[in-house]
Amino acid sequence: MDTIVAKITNDSLTDKKIYEQAGKILREGGLVAFPTETVYGLGANALDDEAVKKIFIAKGRPQDNPLIIHVSTKEISGLVKDVPEVAQKIIDKFWPGPLTVILEKKDIIPNVTSANLNTIGIRMPNSEIALKLIELAERPIAAPSANISGRPSPTEVERCVEDLNGRVDYIIGGESSDIGVESTIVDCTVNPPLVLRPGGITLEMLKEINPEIELDKALKSKPNDDFKPKAPGMKYKHYAPNAHLKIIKGKNEKTIEIINEIVENYIEKGNDVAILTTNENLNKFNNGKVISLGSENDLKEIAKNLFETLRKCDDLRVQYILCQGFEENGVGLAIMNRLNKAAGYDILEV
Ligand code: TXA
Ligand code: MG
Repeated sequence: MDTIVAKITNDSLTDKKIYEQAGKILREGGLVAFPTETVYGLGANALDDEAVKKIFIAKGRPQDNPLIIHVSTKEISGLVKDVPEVAQKIIDKFWPGPLTVILEKKDIIPNVTSANLNTIGIRMPNSEIALKLIELAERPIAAPSANISGRPSPTEVERCVEDLNGRVDYIIGGESSDIGVESTIVDCTVNPPLVLRPGGITLEMLKEINPEIELDKALKSKPNDDFKPKAPGMKYKHYAPNAHLKIIKGKNEKTIEIINEIVENYIEKGNDVAILTTNENLNKFNNGKVISLGSENDLKEIAKNLFETLRKCDDLRVQYILCQGFEENGVGLAIMNRLNKAAGYDILEV
């Protein structure tokens, strides 16, 4: 399949053509990758089961993993049976933005989209490009992250092209994803609502709406038989670079000491190693390719850089990546959730 790659610029005539072409492809059952503020999405008409099936094939995605529907308006009564009061408050406060609500779906949504669940995830992205495209497509758009399943999600158009060129009809670029980790998922079919995936809207922010909102217990540990994550996608190894990623958690100076030891060991055996750390620690390592994710005082910056940095490590062709752990509050919770999965839970506490 030939994939068209086009970037939104500020040239209104060219841009208009891009939106029209991409909107038409979506209406006709094709696949379009597009930017959102969280990560790039791979979109298809959410109401067309044949179109949605193509997403699963293009990504190599397990069929039991439901998709999130993207809308350009807060008015979603055509898609879901009921919007409970607390869900409405969450929508009013955080849409457009990096937050997905899970609600009971109406029959208009095909079972392929919801992976046979009777619920559906919906969000209104805070990206001008995404919103315009959805509006022009005149349909709700099902869109998982625009990566091959298992790989780090793309926050730059080049990474979508890397993964999806030849597998989709159209790729729209034009902005980098600002948040850098996927949306927070809140299950609003239970009361109080439950956070199934941490993201840019933090638990602390949600508790301002209802202090009883909690995290899915399965998020607090490695998935096991006792705690199955309620978001099917959270059970897979995910977001992973090709290199083996290991997380070193503990007091800053101690983690630096241990990382320096491990790096020597790997290098002696002939391996290339990348170290992911903060601006503040850049000069504290003796060996290896040292890369900063951002300032330790700015977790948002670290989240924004996370997936792109994992992909850059693969560009460097290192065999190992050692990453310092972060505090699990605010956006730190989403950062550590993605890192733990990317590392396949290879976490060393020191
Ligand atoms: O920020 C985002 O949400 C991005 C951008 C493109 O919008 N999309 C995204 O989609 O992350 P995806 O497919 O990579 O992740 C969707 C997650 C999966 O873990 C899936 O299991 C969960 O949402 N999910 C979807 N529908 C669900 C439902 N009805 N109940 C529980 N979990 C659901
Ligand atoms: Mg994904």
